[in-house]
Amino acid sequence: MIKIVFATNNNNKLREAQSILKDLPYQFIGLNEFPNIPEIKETGKTLLENSLIKARTVHEITGFPTVADDTGLEVNSLNGAPGVKSARYAGGNATYEDNLNKLLKDLEGVPFGKRQAQFRTVISFVTDSEEHWVEGIVKGIILNESRGESGFGYDPIFYLPELKKTFAQLSMEEKNKISHRGLALEKFRILLGKYNLT
Ligand code: IMP
Repeated sequence: MIKIVFATNNNNKLREAQSILKDLPYQFIGLNEFPNIPEIKETGKTLLENSLIKARTVHEITGFPTVADDTGLEVNSLNGAPGVKSARYAGGNATYEDNLNKLLKDLEGVPFGKRQAQFRTVISFVTDSEEHWVEGIVKGIILNESRGESGFGYDPIFYLPELKKTFAQLSMEEKNKISHRGLALEKFRILLGKYNLT
């Protein structure tokens, strides 16, 4: 079976992708199969640039078709911040909690009606001859305090008005069905399905 590298060290991400893409005739392998690949610096100014940097670098080193993703939380009233800096919003060694608290602080005093945000995932795909990308977006509101215990990152303050719940109040299966990453992976599944890798 033809192998495709998913440029991540995160086994949860790899498993989620393997599950969504399981009907395609490809074997998805993670970076743990390539221990010699050095850490790739995400120096891009956009999610697309970062996902392309990862996909191109890993493709160049491994020779396999490679897919890579990058995600950010974009808050309208902060002009799209934290965006590409979502993982390090409160600084280089920031924890999920530090980042969430900084966002709450930055939005202090901003009324509910002006707290719109979106999670956006960009997935890039690089082969010997082609480059493609797709994106998945989910829109919500940033609450002024945490609600729910599941998930990670900004999940406890990302509120979905239609469901009247935060991402952290959903099970993993419920979240994956509607999430930015789930939607991007679904688009990627359709893209790959049309593609004939040999
Ligand atoms: P990555 O590109 O998937 O590593 O995501 C970058 C950062 O965005 C993470 O470190 C999290 O802070 C945040 N993030 C990404 N996806 C999610 C999510 O599904 N829920 C909450 N936060 C997320």
